[in-house]
Amino acid sequence: MSDLRGELEAVERATGERLSSAGSEAEIESIRHDLFGRSGQLTMLMKQLGSVPAEDRPALGQLANEIRGRLESEIGDRLKALRASGLEDRLAGEAIDMSAPGRPMAVGHLHPVLTTIRDLREIFHAYGFEVFEGPEIETDEYNFELLNIPPDHPARDLWDTLYVAEPGSVEAGMPTPATDGTILRTHTSPTQIRAMRALEPPIRVLTPGRCFRYEAVDASHGFEFFQVEGLVVDRDTSLADLKGMLEEVARALYGRDVATRFRPGYYPFTEPSVAFDIGCLVCGGQGCPACKRSGWMTILGAGMVHPTVLRNGGFDPDEYQGYAFGMGPDRMTMLRHGIGDIRLFFGADLRFVTQFAEGR
Ligand code: DAH
Repeated sequence: MSDLRGELEAVERATGERLSSAGSEAEIESIRHDLFGRSGQLTMLMKQLGSVPAEDRPALGQLANEIRGRLESEIGDRLKALRASGLEDRLAGEAIDMSAPGRPMAVGHLHPVLTTIRDLREIFHAYGFEVFEGPEIETDEYNFELLNIPPDHPARDLWDTLYVAEPGSVEAGMPTPATDGTILRTHTSPTQIRAMRALEPPIRVLTPGRCFRYEAVDASHGFEFFQVEGLVVDRDTSLADLKGMLEEVARALYGRDVATRFRPGYYPFTEPSVAFDIGCLVCGGQGCPACKRSGWMTILGAGMVHPTVLRNGGFDPDEYQGYAFGMGPDRMTMLRHGIGDIRLFFGADLRFVTQFAEGR
């Protein structure tokens, strides 16, 4: 009888040791099998209970049952602990450290020319101008004729036009300009007509946009560039209004100390026409290569809207007057930052563009 007791206790001890070193569920399952399987250690010892003397049987039976109960619950606990620690391992492995600094994202910013255009919009907004956009693909009629530039007029030489080809003419090996007069606009001035025909006076509009010319590209000419057109139509506008406003705009853009001057100019759609210059920002007016030694830089053309253009826009020139101006934001941006070559704007070279990241 004491043999059986000893064997039972020995099995419990040995199993305890095996369990504490078991590292996987499979190992524990095999321990369970070794104990409780059909010919498992505990199964076999229980079977022997039948052959022990009757007086010892109750005590031994109770001991055997207790040991079985303890081992079963120990196996259960061990399995549970192992599963939990597996989950913990996974959770620890996949954990996200919320306090870690984020990876920096590549954030874009405005192109320096667009920053200038945006600044112009803001400045002119203060003078009551609203943005009025026009199409980049225009007609000869809007781009020239309605602006008082008839066909074959020598003034057309001022604009080297990109014509859209007549359908089929390229394939035929004889490209000719489209007979419906479709062209790429050479300036934003055609929007003057569109605005006059669409809006009621008083009109105060600003048209920023892309223009195209058949130009040989060099440091100061692109075949693609921006303009910002302005138009005012009202009953009592004068050249003095235009002058005062443009001087203020120049100060807003280039600082209070900027020098300004108006010169006579010529445009077919304004009469009189002027050019507006600012004192050279590179040499301070002394004269340098950037200003061709004149001390001045032209930033826009302007004038009183020509009576013919007013009429084409639907207004009686005896009743209404207006002024218009056309600015070159590419040029203005070059002056702002001392950029020497207009081609940099269209080169898509990030080493250049990212230097102007202030324009978010
Ligand atoms: N459209 C002219 C150009 O491209 C610029 C211009 C001059 C616009 C005088 C105007 C203006 O509105 O009044 O050269």
